[in-house]
Amino acid sequence: MLPTINFTAANTPAKGCVVLLANGDNEMGAAGQALDASGGISAAIKAAKFKGGFGKTLEILTPKDSAHDRILIVGVGAVDKLKEYDWLRLGGRIRASLADVSKIDVMAELPAGDDDKAPGVTAQQCVDMGLGARLGSYRFDRYKTKGKSKKKAQTVAIHAKSASAAKKLWDGHEGVGDGVMLARDLVNEPANILTPKEFAKRAAQLKKLGCSVDILDEKDMKSLKMEALLGVARGSRNAPRMAIIQWKGCKSKDKPVAFIGKGVTFDTGGISLKPAGGMEDMKGDMGGAAAVTGLMHALAARKAKANVVGIIALVENMPDGDAQRPGDIVKSMSGQTIEILNTDAEGRLVLADALYHCNKKFKPKFMINLATLTGAILVALGNQHAGLFSNDDDLSEQLSEAGLETNEKVWRMPLTPEYDKMIDSKNADMKNIGGRFAGSITAGQFLQRFVGDTPWAHLDVAGTAMSSPQTEINKSWASGYGVRLLDRLVANHYES
Ligand code: BES
Ligand code: MN
Ligand code: ZN
Repeated sequence: MLPTINFTAANTPAKGCVVLLANGDNEMGAAGQALDASGGISAAIKAAKFKGGFGKTLEILTPKDSAHDRILIVGVGAVDKLKEYDWLRLGGRIRASLADVSKIDVMAELPAGDDDKAPGVTAQQCVDMGLGARLGSYRFDRYKTKGKSKKKAQTVAIHAKSASAAKKLWDGHEGVGDGVMLARDLVNEPANILTPKEFAKRAAQLKKLGCSVDILDEKDMKSLKMEALLGVARGSRNAPRMAIIQWKGCKSKDKPVAFIGKGVTFDTGGISLKPAGGMEDMKGDMGGAAAVTGLMHALAARKAKANVVGIIALVENMPDGDAQRPGDIVKSMSGQTIEILNTDAEGRLVLADALYHCNKKFKPKFMINLATLTGAILVALGNQHAGLFSNDDDLSEQLSEAGLETNEKVWRMPLTPEYDKMIDSKNADMKNIGGRFAGSITAGQFLQRFVGDTPWAHLDVAGTAMSSPQTEINKSWASGYGVRLLDRLVANHYES
């Protein structure tokens, strides 16, 4: 169960469990110093050879008549080196160290630095700890009927001078956290439950936050001539959907910014069937669409002052008597024809129509699509960076910067006319695969043929959305990658 986070200015923690922060010299703020009046804490620190290194913890068991049941010292290391992400990690670490404690009092303070400017811990840092505590406690356990950790309510009370400022900031950040966890839920959900129709239904719940949501069904997409997308959907009994989510946080008739997500609810490869080993991971082939949905939740929850469109293209890629074949030629909504040489290169087909439709209908300031598009991006970048492909240097810079701030990192990859040639086809305007090499780049070149002159970026999140490294703020298979990154991009550059 997710902890409740609150902020309080009180500097005397209740009896119970207290967390103190210590820097790399084992120095603590005023509350820590007060608790150590009799030297008990210093003695324990010394006995345990605790050094106050980042993320290291020392739990002190207190005598029966002590004012507190438990004292946890958490090292933060060199204070001036702490980045935003480190505060998230600290929050996750603190909560995990005290997972069985119903109320945790975190004394968010550190000793004043040499310059005496000294703000122990800022409001933003308090909020980051709270967000980290929530994200780190997320578990996908809704299908476990046995052995589920007993649902006990937990409160993390963060005590700080800046409590009232932190409270104000928290409202927005809690919504961003919920957006991340919504994306994780969607990616973790199995494909027998999360069909295109069910996904669209969940996206429609964003209406509760003030978004408008239009759902296109197969008939609507047929009349729009989205034959590239529909070709992929043909093999499945689960009919495709496209959800168009709009958040109008700006009164002006400002052009919107647009985010488009690949939502292949399961990717068998189709007739070009994937091998059996690991195929279960392809329930996560809608990680792009999940991030867009989570992002729209985040922006609406924090009432972002921006006009934003989110489009998610939802299909299932199955082999079937009616599935499309290698060699088939389809006409995309843009009018360009595509020779299908591998039915497993389906994400780009789905996105081709979604991007074209988005551009034509909304004339957005920019389009950013997210997609678990290629296995090749895992070969290139592993799971530390998403691949960034773009026709716009400014947008790329903004994404890289937001990536470093949120630790949802991107790495720019090339797009050039030479790579573009690799997808020219003898029989149609293009083919849907480029050949053995540069697979992530030729996929990017393919998408670029559907965006016109609109500033555009493609994030290949095949390595970052799922099978994620376990960190202080994520203990789940699905990371929710992209939500914090794009929320930050909007906050930094696109709000009035
Ligand atoms: N959904 C996959 C890409 C993928 C692979 C995502 C591993 C997450 C983890 C995509 O649809 C796909 O099958 N791509 C093919 C492209 C190839 C046929 C050109 C690939 O990467 O092998
Ligand atoms: Mn595929
Ligand atoms: Zn796929």
